[in-house]
Amino acid sequence: MWCPEGLDEVEAELLGPTEELTGKDVLEIGAGAAQCARWLAGQGARPVALDVSHRQLQHALRIGGPFPLVCADAAVLPFADASFDLACSAYGALPFVADPRLVLREVRRVLRPGGRFVFSVTHPLRWAFPDEPGPEGLSVSASYFDRTPYVEQDDEGVAVYVEHHRTLGDRVRDVVTSGFRLVDLVEPEWPDWNTSEWGGWSPLRGHLIPGTAIFVCERD
Ligand SMILES: C[S@@+](CC[C@H](N)C(=O)[O-])C[C@H]1O[C@@H](n2cnc3c(N)ncnc32)[C@H](O)[C@@H]1O
Repeated sequence: MWCPEGLDEVEAELLGPTEELTGKDVLEIGAGAAQCARWLAGQGARPVALDVSHRQLQHALRIGGPFPLVCADAAVLPFADASFDLACSAYGALPFVADPRLVLREVRRVLRPGGRFVFSVTHPLRWAFPDEPGPEGLSVSASYFDRTPYVEQDDEGVAVYVEHHRTLGDRVRDVVTSGFRLVDLVEPEWPDWNTSEWGGWSPLRGHLIPGTAIFVCERD
């Protein structure tokens, strides 16, 4: 699953034809509980699930799967050059690092020539709207161009959650200047079957403004 809209890889085939995943070395970045790696293993691929959070990887370990889990920062990947055929990330790492080019360059380094990196992030347009599922989430309340990160702090003032904003142009530039070719930019539409409502996600907003941007990138 790439995004809250519900677009899944069986339908989208952004990593290429599903039947061609067999035997492919795939790196999942910001894997969380490693849902994508688990699905990829089921298709016969050889995934590696990476996350900076030990706690997230404990969930991945508890759920299980026939693939390695690696605790590391996506900006400093502990792999040799050209180790993977594909890389993917569903809302992992990229929205949470100040300089996503560090991650993109590392992913490019560990991909084999011709390798593909597909990643989904919050659609940049959402930054300008309140994160509310109802009508109050439909009026612009902040500047789309303001790159000041969103930060939540604990009682001692320590940042416990940080999300960084990049405009659509920033993201395209990040991809291209990191040595990738941008093959596609997918903006999934909210499907009628998805009646879920949580946080800032809802059919009301989903039918009017994009929620997710999925970048399909290739290493030449
Ligand atoms: C929103 S969750 C997405 C998890 C999973 N991909 C999914 O679809 O449920 C973001 C994940 O990115 C991880 N993450 C954040 N910064 C990271 C970094 N610099 N390197 C690796 N993982 C990171 C977080 O620990 C978290 O598990």
